[in-house]
Amino acid sequence: MYLDGKIGIVTGAAGGLGFEIAKELTKNGATVIITSRKKSKLTKACNLINKNCLGFELDVSNRKSVMKFIGNVSKKFDSVDILINNAGFPFEKKIWFKKIHGISEMELMNILQVDLIGTFRVTKEILKLMMKKRKGVIINIASTPAISGHTYGSPYSIAKAGSITLTKHVALEYGQYNIRAFSVALGDIYTEAMRRSLSRSELLKARTENTMKRLGRPEEIAKSIVSIAGDNFSFSTGNTIIIDGGKIII
Ligand SMILES: NC(=O)c1ccc[n+]([C@@H]2O[C@H](COP(=O)([O-])OP(=O)(O)OC[C@H]3O[C@@H](n4cnc5c(N)ncnc54)[C@H](OP(=O)(O)O)[C@@H]3O)[C@@H](O)[C@H]2O)c1
Repeated sequence: MYLDGKIGIVTGAAGGLGFEIAKELTKNGATVIITSRKKSKLTKACNLINKNCLGFELDVSNRKSVMKFIGNVSKKFDSVDILINNAGFPFEKKIWFKKIHGISEMELMNILQVDLIGTFRVTKEILKLMMKKRKGVIINIASTPAISGHTYGSPYSIAKAGSITLTKHVALEYGQYNIRAFSVALGDIYTEAMRRSLSRSELLKARTENTMKRLGRPEEIAKSIVSIAGDNFSFSTGNTIIIDGGKIII
């Protein structure tokens, strides 16, 4: 199979898009490590994925938690082939719909701590493992407002834009170790979080904003991401791959 023998990590994968990505990785032959801040969610999620799944607790906003996680991974595996930084600050309408002048420093920092600094923390430690084996792929889940900007929600756009820049640095600094990196800028994907958070009219509006006039399906996004994680993209690195039904085209 496409990813036979590979070890992959997906952060924030007890539900939503992360769960679909983890499931697709195992369908393609990989062994997957999924993470959640809540231990109780992990067993259930792993049972739904398949036997090649392990769950570890991880809060990317906390350095100690990241170090404990890395210790747990290192005890089980001597290498990691794929890291998917999917963990993202929970979608909160009251922050998302704010303009810059109404955003507190705390709101900004909370989002940066997860989507940007959390991604940096995990990437930094996993790079050390990947460098030893001189191979690896790191995929950062970003979002289209990081490229185009938006009329609100700046902390999120800024955090994801930072993760896109981090991707470029990983590609340039570690290409010599055969480590590749990609950002995936997603449009509106119909995940549990989106279903929970948006009203019917907001969902309808999101549907009309791209050229395909529909929301993305988590399973199709997972397939695209798994394709990037393997050798189909072996001579590509540092790029931002936009998966958004043609909402922004560059
Ligand atoms: N859905 C979309 O339309 C869309 C569009 C563009 C980008 N994205 C990005 O895609 C990713 C997945 O989104 P989703 O829609 O599946 O939302 P989601 O269900 O809220 O997924 C985010 C995951 O991040 C984890 N998380 C939150 N805070 C964390 C922390 N401090 N440390 C570690 N993990 C943490 C959560 O897991 P636990 O609660 O189990 O810890 C959660 O499962 C996110 O990065 C999001 O920004 C989504």
